[in-house]
Amino acid sequence: MNPPHQALRGFRDILPDEVDRWQFLERVCREVFERYGFREIRTPLLESTELFCRSVGESTDIVRKEMYTFERGEESFTLRPESTASVVRAFVEHSLHRGVASGYPEKLYYIGPMFRYERPQKGRQRQFHQIGVEILGASEPMVDAETLEMLWSFLDEIGVTDRELLLGSVGDTECRPAYRARLMAWLEPRIGELCADCRRRYRENPLRILDCKVEADRRVVADAPTMLGDLCGSCTDHFTSVRASLDRFGIPYRIDPRMVRGLDYYQRTVFEVLASGLGSQNAILGGGRYDGLVETLGGPPIPGFGFAIGMERLLSLVPQDRGRKSETDVLVVALGPAGWEGAVDVVRRLRRAGIRALAPVRERPMGAQLKRADRLGARFALFVGADEIDSGRFGLKDLSSGEQVALEERAVIERIAERLR
Ligand code: HAM
Repeated sequence: MNPPHQALRGFRDILPDEVDRWQFLERVCREVFERYGFREIRTPLLESTELFCRSVGESTDIVRKEMYTFERGEESFTLRPESTASVVRAFVEHSLHRGVASGYPEKLYYIGPMFRYERPQKGRQRQFHQIGVEILGASEPMVDAETLEMLWSFLDEIGVTDRELLLGSVGDTECRPAYRARLMAWLEPRIGELCADCRRRYRENPLRILDCKVEADRRVVADAPTMLGDLCGSCTDHFTSVRASLDRFGIPYRIDPRMVRGLDYYQRTVFEVLASGLGSQNAILGGGRYDGLVETLGGPPIPGFGFAIGMERLLSLVPQDRGRKSETDVLVVALGPAGWEGAVDVVRRLRRAGIRALAPVRERPMGAQLKRADRLGARFALFVGADEIDSGRFGLKDLSSGEQVALEERAVIERIAERLR
């Protein structure tokens, strides 16, 4: 049992010291994605269980074992294990496809928590966060490549440069049934060597066997036929065009002929980005094309493409110095009782002028106040005492250069604003 004074296993607090870096990721992704015409969408954390069964797939590990599901009255609810299903549900529910009919795809992004009941370990939580994008209404291979180019640009800007793009194709409703039959025929004489889960998968969804984590099973399927070898003409053309555009953009990739992904809605392009230094949970993101999903969820036949990044895994790779903020820009140093009285007004006016400023809440020796300025990473100390209040000129010390000047309050504000720019 989880003790009540501790967060649940696999759930964690994000403390103020870490939040700077989270906000940095959020800020950069908004900036980059909006440059490419994406708009944010926010969907509820709770959805009907049926939504994920239909989209992610009944035979996936996510739906079979990992969902936080509960009943209320006659209904079953699930905390979202991912967001593609929710975004497509919202797209259909609010008829956003009407806009898409005019030839311009809907480009959406989201940031938020997801929930999966997995065994917690390094890089794997039960509540984790994703940054994701979904493009609805375009099947062109250039869309796949351009979205990956955006992703590359985002990873460059946050300083995650040690990464590898794995690319594959899982075919479509045209070519997958024939491949499935070929794979089943190949597996049949080997069923006895597979784990119990895979023996069930053989009946329900044999492609999932290629994704089994059991080492012995992985050895058995190492030589299995691959989807990539069985693609139909139009899937081959699509894949070739995606690769040509990636080459044109200078984005390196490695082909993974047996990439399966853990969700059933994919068609054609699939991909993951791996990073070293993360141990066994080394996928920082995954995604692909899901051309049949809008229809599965009750909409018209509209294609889709997207990816989702695991924020915790990504953050562990962002260089330590990125995104750190000081706690304030100016520390007002109050000198004596008059200074302490006056500091309350000075700090208020600095804040009104848009400057991050702090003053002591009780009288403290000057040395202690300056130590605090250092601890908070303040760029300036502003001295406020009886003399300064009488003369209207305050001592402003630039703590990075040591330079100190006496200025009127208006000039103080101008100088700080200028130096912080
Ligand atoms: P996914 O591969 O299930 O895809 O998850 C994407 C990423 O979320 C993973 O690569 C990983 O970084 C992170 N992640 C997943 N589970 C955990 C966990 N338990 N703890 C920490 N991080 C985790 C999707 O979710 C699809 N919706 C992606 C997509 C969007 N496909 C098309 N559009």
